[in-house]
Amino acid sequence: DTKIYEIDPKSIEKERLKFAAKTLREGGTVAFPTETVYGLGGNALDEKAVKKIFKAKGRPSDNPLIVHIAKVEDLDDLVKVIPENAKILMEKFWPGPLTIIFERGDKIPDVITGGLDTVAIRMPSHPIANLLIEMAGLPIAAPSANLSGKPSPTKAEHVINDLEGKVNVIISGGSCEVGLESTVVDVTGKPMILRPGGVTKEELEAVLGNIEVDLAIEEGNVNLIPKSPGMKYTHYSPQGEVIIVSGAVEKIVEKIHSLKQENEKRGLNVGIMCTDETKTLYKEGVVLSMGSRENVASIANHLFDVLRMFDEEGVDIIFAESIEKKSLGHAVMNRMIKAAGYHIIKTGR
Ligand code: TXA
Ligand code: MG
Repeated sequence: DTKIYEIDPKSIEKERLKFAAKTLREGGTVAFPTETVYGLGGNALDEKAVKKIFKAKGRPSDNPLIVHIAKVEDLDDLVKVIPENAKILMEKFWPGPLTIIFERGDKIPDVITGGLDTVAIRMPSHPIANLLIEMAGLPIAAPSANLSGKPSPTKAEHVINDLEGKVNVIISGGSCEVGLESTVVDVTGKPMILRPGGVTKEELEAVLGNIEVDLAIEEGNVNLIPKSPGMKYTHYSPQGEVIIVSGAVEKIVEKIHSLKQENEKRGLNVGIMCTDETKTLYKEGVVLSMGSRENVASIANHLFDVLRMFDEEGVDIIFAESIEKKSLGHAVMNRMIKAAGYHIIKTGR
């Protein structure tokens, strides 16, 4: 039996969060909004609670969880050392969509890290997330609150669709501002981005200088093993097959037109995932825009919701326009490529 509480993030009634905080303290599971995506929380120091999270999501046990905290002091018990680069990042980006990898402290149970000697930590900025963690008085393990393999949830209805009946509490608190998960950065050695996300490479480089991206997550390197275990799984997949079409925008549109015709002849229900700029160029069919090419934040914000909408439309195959891989576009394309299982059709430039 799942309890669902509606809470307005703009005027939070603390009373309404009490039950959720208590549930966390008693080893239960609570889904809550963050500024990136909804998370499914449990007491990070309680192995049984953490196992409930894995079970509810159907998540492979070798995929470690991010531990969420409400204030910087909470770190001390959870990590071995706080490197200088971590201090710089925390100062600049916490609370916010940045997850930092630390050497794991002794308190962290094995279930959290999947056996790694590091632990991922993040301090969310969403007022509901922040207050809930503080009221629980615990570090909270929280993966995205979706069934494993599905697009991450950016609205309460996504969480309800995936997890109602499988978790103790769902806090319905509006839609998530960023719409993509946090950036995961490792500063235990030379700084490296393990997962692109809400904080861009450019923003990180402005404070840390040149920063590498794990080569294994870049296009065309499917043979390398990612340093972030979660990045190896197919992910973000709607029911329909996703195929990305890349190249110059006019070429993409032309190619998608011919692919649509071919596939409709085969009797398939075709979806087109496009942008505000190209939407009117596709005449009929299931055409959904991710947002504007001029405003990549709008695309990040809608991507997962649009992927889920294609399921509701019952499409068999989805052709997705690629966007430029700079700033937030890096994270958008990373998620899109995974949704497509690396299936990309390249047109000319
Ligand atoms: O924005 C977010 O990060 C959301 C919200 C709820 O905070 N959470 C989230 O968690 O996206 P999840 O579990 O869906 O993704 C966590 C990612 C996975 O790719 C996992 O492999 C990686 O972080 N990760 C966790 N611990 C790690 C570690 N010690 N070393 C490397 N990667 C780690
Ligand atoms: Mg996830």
